[in-house]
Amino acid sequence: NPIYVLNGPNLNLLGTREPAVYGTETLADLEQRCVRKAQALGLTVDFRQSNTEGELVGWIQEARTKASGLIVNAGAYTHTSIAMLDALLACEVPVVEVHLSNIFAREPFRHRSYISQAAKGVICGFGGLGYELAIEALASARSGA
Ligand code: DQA
Repeated sequence: NPIYVLNGPNLNLLGTREPAVYGTETLADLEQRCVRKAQALGLTVDFRQSNTEGELVGWIQEARTKASGLIVNAGAYTHTSIAMLDALLACEVPVVEVHLSNIFAREPFRHRSYISQAAKGVICGFGGLGYELAIEALASARSGA
C-alpha cells in the first residue's frame, strides 16, 4: 500500500505564499521530492492537498485500510482540529506529522498541535526536506530498523 501524504489548507499556494517562511518550492515540487524519495526506498506515495477539514478527515479514514503510513501537514488545522486528531487516533497506521516551518519559533498559537498526540514523531523546520525525512522514518519503522 502507498504512503498517504496529506496536505492541509493553503499549502496549494506554496511557492508564492509567504516565501520567507515557507520557501519557494511549490506543492508540485514537494510531490516530486516525495515520489523520488519513496521510489529510492521501494515505496510509493499518494500525495494530496485539501483546503477542507472534512475532506482531510475522509482521507484519514480511507488510509485505515488503504495506506501503509501517513504523513500529515495539516496546515492551520494542526492547531484547531480535534476531528483530525480523532480520525488519526482511529487510523492505526503509523503517522508522521510534518511542518515546513519551525512552528516553535513562531507565534505562540502555533506551538500547540492537536494532532501530535496521534503521531509517532514530528518533523518541523526543515522545509521540503522534512517530507523526505518522514518517508525515511516510515520506511525504517517498517523494516524494524
Ligand atoms: C505549517 C505551519 C502552520 O502553523 C501553518 O498554519 C501552515 C503551514 C507548516 O508547514 O509550516 O499552514 O503547517
